[in-house]
Amino acid sequence: MINRTQVGIVGAGPAGLLLAHLLQLEDIESVVLETRSREEIEATLRAGVLEQGTVDVLNESGVGERMMREGFVHHGIVLRFAGRSHRIDLTGLSGGRSIMVYAQHEVIKDLAKARLDAGAPIEFGVKDVTLLDLDTAAPRIRYRDGAGALRELACDYVAGCDGFHGVSRPTIPSRRRTEFTRVYPFGWFGILVEAPPATDELIYAHHERGFALVSTRSPSIQRLYLQCEPEDQVANWPDARIWQELHTRLATGDGWRLTEGRIFQKGIVAMRSFVVEPMQYGHLFLAGDAAHIVPPTGAKGLNLAVADVRVLARALTAFYRDKRSDLLEQYSTTALRRVWRAEHFSWWMTSMLHRFHDDTPFHHRLQLAELDYVTRSRAKATTLAENYAGLPLD
Ligand code: FAD
Ligand code: PHB
Repeated sequence: MINRTQVGIVGAGPAGLLLAHLLQLEDIESVVLETRSREEIEATLRAGVLEQGTVDVLNESGVGERMMREGFVHHGIVLRFAGRSHRIDLTGLSGGRSIMVYAQHEVIKDLAKARLDAGAPIEFGVKDVTLLDLDTAAPRIRYRDGAGALRELACDYVAGCDGFHGVSRPTIPSRRRTEFTRVYPFGWFGILVEAPPATDELIYAHHERGFALVSTRSPSIQRLYLQCEPEDQVANWPDARIWQELHTRLATGDGWRLTEGRIFQKGIVAMRSFVVEPMQYGHLFLAGDAAHIVPPTGAKGLNLAVADVRVLARALTAFYRDKRSDLLEQYSTTALRRVWRAEHFSWWMTSMLHRFHDDTPFHHRLQLAELDYVTRSRAKATTLAENYAGLPLD
């Protein structure tokens, strides 16, 4: 069976769902196709920090109400190294911007609900998604629906929002794309803990045994990470080893202590930087992790997905409302400017805070000198603050 829509959206992550929502507000039709179930997408644990621009987009498009009620606004972060804590005043240094701690899967729940409440099409559990005729004005998406029936969706444009392992990017002929990659020689071991917050602001800790991060989810659930081996296994980390390592890496002389609690979730995140150029091929536009990956140290992954989609939604709106295609033609150039800024920031934060396997004492001293400078120079701290809280959206 063949259906028709204006924009076919592959993937119901933050990028796909937000794009569908922004287009819906402009009366532009779309169909969202997702391989997983609604329950699965709403249960996948990922990012936690929303930058100011992301919060603004969610509020302005009418899906920010629960976030404003249940999320936590933070005005600073703490850098901890050489046994001391140093606060970076995000708000004071970034012209009044702040961040919101609100989990990615909560954003997904809010966006999925908006889509379903609007009665707009979204198909879960699809299989064998194939993108066809992308280099023509009549691209098609062929797939099997949840019941296994073969279907085709004829579109004006396809938005590839299917994450790093999706089908959209590999469908672009290899001679028409250039990929830039850096894989880091470590991963992040992440846990969720039943405990009250031990700190009012996120703590990013540099220690000679490796990086550690204290984040939060709610007054009763905390999110903690520690740098681990790239090929590490969850089984290598019994609870006692996790706590011992976290206490060591987060130790200071100021008497602060991490609050322990029941660990109810453990997982390992790989660390990679990746960009594909351009983010467009014919009538296919890539957005979010389908086009780029950042290591999570700068908390930028989800925020970049939102920034891409905002640029793409504006370009599609200009096309359908004013018959202008110039913004679509500029999409990749516009999005990549922010992408590379975030790539640099995420690489810089990662390089400054982690222990590298080929570390020499010289390298370690350079990291400490950099951290010292960031916490003593207003100019350098401003660089961190304005990037972390998020540069204004285009
Ligand atoms: P995704 O969220 O990956 O969504 C893509 C969607 O497409 C998925 O639902 C997928 O099921 C679907 N899909 C895939 N293939 C197909 C197909 N063929 N057809 C249809 N649908 C398909 N960022 C941070 O800032 N902080 C963090 O702590 C952090 N932790 C992370 C942990 C992990 C394990 C991962 C993988 C990422 C993490 N990120 C983090 C990054 C952040 O979560 C991503 O940048 C964000 O999810 C990007 O959104 P997206 O919509 O582009 O892609
Ligand atoms: C999180 O809360 O999951 C989180 C916070 C900050 C980061 C990465 C992840 O830099």
